[in-house]
This record gives sequence, structure tokens and C-alpha cells, in this order.
Amino acid sequence: MRHAFKKKIIYCGLIVIALIIFLHPNMNGRRTYDYIEKNNIMVNLHDRIAQNFTSTAIMDCDYRDILFDVTTMSVSLMDGDLIEGHKIKDGGEFYPSECKPKFSTAIIVPYRDRAEQLRGFLVYMHVFLRRQNIHYRIYVIEQVDTKPFNRAKLLNIGAAAAFKAGYPCLVLHDVDLLPLRPANLYACTKCPRHMSSSINKFRFVLPYLNLFGGAIAITSQQYKLINGMSNEYYGWGGEDDDLYARLEVEELKLCRFEPEVSRYHMVAHQTQRKGERKHKVFNYAKNKVNEDGLNTLKYTEVATVLHPLFTHIMVDL
Ligand SMILES: *[C@@H]1O[C@H](CO)[C@@H](O)[C@H](O)[C@H]1NC(C)=O
Repeated sequence: MRHAFKKKIIYCGLIVIALIIFLHPNMNGRRTYDYIEKNNIMVNLHDRIAQNFTSTAIMDCDYRDILFDVTTMSVSLMDGDLIEGHKIKDGGEFYPSECKPKFSTAIIVPYRDRAEQLRGFLVYMHVFLRRQNIHYRIYVIEQVDTKPFNRAKLLNIGAAAAFKAGYPCLVLHDVDLLPLRPANLYACTKCPRHMSSSINKFRFVLPYLNLFGGAIAITSQQYKLINGMSNEYYGWGGEDDDLYARLEVEELKLCRFEPEVSRYHMVAHQTQRKGERKHKVFNYAKNKVNEDGLNTLKYTEVATVLHPLFTHIMVDL
């Protein structure tokens, strides 16, 4: 009798362990997925520079070296300072002076209340991006009201600013993610690209195949085609799946670079993003791409300040 009982307990325990292993999001995630082979990246890039941007350099920049760069950057860089004479213009804009860049990228960062993290992010990103010989500018869009954080709407606002400045490529980027591989070029591919497919926090495994959040690159043209993101997602979560649904509506297929190149470091912070995540049941985009997005974007611009390392747009949603 006692023996049978013990057996049962062991049996149940094994089932529970098996279920945990099977259902744990990081366990059945993907260490591998379809990606653009290194040799095919060049032909898949969307080479376009910002309207009215001119370079006085004679030679075109070459991107082969950076795409095949095998180094990994150290996240401790974010504790340092930028070197003198870094040539970054007010507003956080940079372009190489020795060669003509082929890509102009607006990096858009939704933000609130993480000053220390933002500082580290900016220092790190400028060091990282300057190596890539691209023309770029960092926009930080800060929500200054007291409503729940609305990441997607802030991204729409940043996108609108980038369009105004003539940028053909947007990188939508969370402030707690640091790219580790210089080979992860911050330029748009012809397909919308999920860049942060390999994050340390998820043990460098892609949690699910349709994940399209964290850091993504999308051309301005494609972002307009899908009418941007939804403005309705207050609080954490769901807006990235909604964005994916919008791509599907327009039959845009996402792409990625290989896991090794797509590595990111997620910076720890107290306010747990997952804990805040509200599992909202939304009828994802499917029917409302044209009724909610860039064309219905309304907000109050409180101020725009050109800081040495970024363009700071403060908004009231
Ligand atoms: C580019 O220059 C033209 C002519 O000066 C101007 O009309 C247009 O607004 C400029 N575009 C941008 C994005 O600044």
C-alpha cells in the first residue's frame, strides 16, 4: 500500500517535471530558424539614404567587412564615456566622413523613467553604430503624462519625426537591449527584420517564431503601408503581436539574420516588464489596420530638444 502510494507520487512528479520542461517558453524556443545567409545579406539590403542627405566623401562605404566581423562587443562600454572628437552632431546624428554611406537609419526608442539606463544605452549605441559606417540618428520619444506606458504609440510618433527628416529606414528599439555583434548591421533589409532574435535573458533562444518585438528594422515605406502600429495598447504587451498581424495583412514576410549575429544583452531593471504585461485579449489588427495607426495618431508635443547624443521628443499622449 505505502509502496504503491510512493510510486504514484514519483509518477506524478515526473509528469509535472515533463510538463514544465515541455511548456516552459524558453525550452521549446528555437535555437535556430530561417535566416538570411551571410553571403546573401548584401543583395537583401535596402540601400537608400535620407532625402537631402549629402556626403562630401568620394568613396562609397564598404559593408562587407562589418557583415563578416566576428567580434563581440563588451556591455561594460555603457559605463564609460564617448571619446573626444566623436563627431556626433547635436540630436544624435552621425555619418562617416571618410566614405559615402549607403544607408540612413532612424533609431527610435520609446522611453520613460529610466535615466540611468538611457545614458548607458546612448553611449553604448553610439560606440556600436559608429563602427558600421552608416548615417543614423537616435530619437528618444518620452511619454511625460501619467497614463500607462504606450510603447506602440511612442514608436508611431518617432516614425512620424523620422519621416519628416526623410529617413527611409526605421529601427524600433527598446532601451534595455544592447546589440552584441557589430555584424548586426543597423540598416533595413527588403523584408521587415526582427533583429533581437537571440537575447541573453532567453538564453539566446527565440521564444516563438512570430515574435516581432525588442529591436526591429522596417523601411519607412513598409511602416506606412501597414499604417504603423496600433495606438490603443496602454500598458505592457500585445502591441508587438499586433504589429506582426499587420505585416500579415499586407503579406509582408519578416526575416532575420543568423542567431549568432542577432545576439543582444538585456539590461536588468527593477520594474519587471513581464510582470507588468497585461494579457489583453485584443482582436489583433486583422480588421482595423486602416482605422487605428499612423492615420489616427493624435498627441501633444511638449518639447523637442536636441541633446548631444539624441533627439529628445517629449509627448503627452
Ligand atoms: C529636401 O529639400 C527640398 C527642397 O529644398 C524640401 O522641399 C524638402 O522638404 C526637403 N526634405 C526634407 C526631408 O527635409
